[in-house]
Amino acid sequence: MSKRLSITAAAIALLAASWSAVATAQETPAAPAAPAAQETPAAPQITLDDARKMFASNCSWCHGNFGKKAGKGGPKLAGTAKDEEQVYQTILKGQNAMPSFKKTLTEDKIRALARYIKSLPAEEPAAPAPTEQQ
Ligand code: HEC
Repeated sequence: MSKRLSITAAAIALLAASWSAVATAQETPAAPAAPAAQETPAAPQITLDDARKMFASNCSWCHGNFGKKAGKGGPKLAGTAKDEEQVYQTILKGQNAMPSFKKTLTEDKIRALARYIKSLPAEEPAAPAPTEQQ
């Protein structure tokens, strides 16, 4: 009986010892994290690609796909005579049949859209391939 007890005690001691070894191993601090490769910009930037998506959902049903062709009601926007600030003002305030987006889009988003419209090439690239259909 006492032999059995001491075996149990030894087993418990062994377990405790190995447990504390595990615990110690876990306490070892991990290697310091690598420093961030890039500085995070102060404000999130709206990319031209984001603007393209916004254009597709808000504007292309009137202005045609990506502003390259005149769509339902709206003129073609690629190559507009307006400068970026005027384009911004038009989107913000609206113009005749063009609705104002002041309540729909934030100022940042409208700025990004104006930048996007001014980034569009004025002319369609070359003549369409002969096999292409209108
Ligand atoms: C309901 C249809 C409609 C929607 C939606 C619309 N537009 Fe227009 N947009 C027009 C019309 C019509 C005009 C021409 C206004 C005029 O006759 O003065 C116009 C004019 C413009 C102009 C001025 C073009 C120029 O060269 O004078 C810009 C810039 C413009 N829209 C940008 C946008 C953007 C960006 C969006 C999406 C956020 C948008 N529009 C959504 C109908 C629309």
